[in-house]
Parts: sequence; C-alpha cells; structure tokens
Amino acid sequence: MQPPGGTLQRLTLPGVKYLVAVTSGKGGVGKSTVATNLALALQMHGRRIGLMDADIYGPSIPIMMGVPHVDPQTTPFPIERFGIKLMSMGFVVPANQASILRGPMIHKYLTAFLTQITWGELDYLLVDMPPGTGDAQLSLAQTAPLSGVVAVVTPQDVSLTVARRGIEMFRTVKVPILGVVENMSYFKGDDGKRYEIFRHGGGQKLAQDVGAPFLGEIPIDPRVAECSDAGDPIVHKFPDSEVAKAYLTLASLVAEELQKAGPPQELPGLKM
Ligand SMILES: Nc1ncnc2c1ncn2[C@@H]1O[C@H](COP(=O)(O)OP(=O)(O)OP(=O)(O)O)[C@@H](O)[C@H]1O
Ligand SMILES: [Mg+2]
Repeated sequence: MQPPGGTLQRLTLPGVKYLVAVTSGKGGVGKSTVATNLALALQMHGRRIGLMDADIYGPSIPIMMGVPHVDPQTTPFPIERFGIKLMSMGFVVPANQASILRGPMIHKYLTAFLTQITWGELDYLLVDMPPGTGDAQLSLAQTAPLSGVVAVVTPQDVSLTVARRGIEMFRTVKVPILGVVENMSYFKGDDGKRYEIFRHGGGQKLAQDVGAPFLGEIPIDPRVAECSDAGDPIVHKFPDSEVAKAYLTLASLVAEELQKAGPPQELPGLKM
C-alpha cells in the first residue's frame, strides 16, 4: 500500500476476461445471493467462473456455497465448489472469529485475493461486495481492473439516495455500470397471482435515474434463503424455478452489457 498522496497501481489479472462487482449502497438487499446465483447461471451458459468474497468483515460465500471450515494452512486456494472457483475471508478466519482490520489491511487482503490466488483462465470473476461505499469499494474501484458493476436494489428503495451513492462512486472512477437488478421484486402465490410485497419500481427508477440498463426482476421465494443457508444455491438446486430462470436471463444480459462495454479502460494509477 502506498502512503497517502502516493499512486495506487492498477492490478492486472491476465487470465480473467471480465472482473465484475456485485454491489449495492444498502445492506441486506441480496448482493451475496445475487453473486452466487449469477455465478451459477453464468456457468450454466457454459462459462468458466470465479467468485471472490470481498466482504472481509461478514463473508457469506462459504455458507451460501456450502464450503465447510477449511484449514488455510493446508488448503490450496481457490476452493472449487459446483465447478466455481471461490475465495473468501471466511476460509482464512473461522466464522466465530471476527476480522478486525483497518482500511489498509482490507486493501491488502483484497489485493492478495486478486493477485496471489491462482484463478487460472476464467471468463468471469464475480466479486461479492460488502454493503456501502467503504474501504473495499474504494480499494477495488481504484486498483482492480473492473469490467463493470451490477447494482442490486430492492423495490422499496424508492428514495434511492443510498443506492445511487453506491453507483456514483464506481462511475467517478470510470467503471461501467452494467445495470441495475431488482431483487425481491414480487411473490408469485399458489394462485399464480403476483404480489408486490415491497411495492414496485425501485430498480427501474434507479436504472433510469443513473442512465444504466435495467437488468430485470428476481422474485421472492422462501427457497432462495433455504437453499443459501443449506449451501446449495437455488439456481443449482431448483434450476427450473422462476427464480433460476430470472437468473439465467440476468446472466445473458450481464454478458451482453459486458460485450458492449468492451475491455476495461486502461487507466493510469489513480492518486489517493
Ligand atoms: N429473492 C429472494 N427471495 C427470498 N429471500 C431472499 C431473496 N434474495 C435474498 N434473500 C435472503 O435475504 C437475506 C439477505 O441476502 P444477502 O445476504 O444475499 O444480502 P446482502 O446484500 O449480501 O447482505 P449484506 O449487505 O449483509 O452483505 C438472506 O437471508 C437471503 O437468503
Ligand atoms: Mg453479502
């Protein structure tokens, strides 16, 4: 890490075609759920996928992808599960032990995750971001060769201020916003009717406000949480569900937007 006022070098990831962050201004909107299921959906489209957990303080990927505790001394990283390459702080620090790290250490860990792990040849390396616009976002936005960002919102985010702030941060450093996906959009009852439990339209409105594509709606389904908690994401466990279909569509749209955005901009190291 350079001292303040120094220049952060942009990292290179030679084997990775697209590095994509899944992000949101707010916590608990489903970033980790979207990251894991999008990873599996992209894989179903025949792509080679990695998933990096950038939530150093509250990693979710080990549980959601069903990786039990591993011994970091003897386990080669990344860990592979469902054919997806994974890295998470949860593999390094036991779940019952909180990571207490200062900002520069977050940067160091994320840099190590990106560059010291043998990711190999990947079409997409997805990054599950922690909530907000803190150290992890800043670190990745400034140094990682991000191809783009997928922003997750929930329908009730009608004020949108926080969600917007999350997006603008990446835009400031010229990372393309691939689009906005609305999670927990509606619930389809046994009667086939659509119930908009958390109102409607937050995702569309945010996409419009920030001038980014709207990437669709993912319904509420109690099986989403059950599958995540059991370590077998819904796209893998119930590939014919409406939720899985929404993820397959999301995967196609993300791939399209990445192609449109082209290769990541070659930016010089940014001033801290
Ligand atoms: N479409 C959905 N239907 C039902 N439950 C969902 C859906 N999406 C997410 N959930 C549940 O909502 C909770 C929060 O999801 P998740 O942990 O992915 O959010 P997050 O944005 O990553 O949170 P954090 O900000 O803490 O990292 C989880 O219990 C998850 O299983
Ligand atoms: Mg999360």
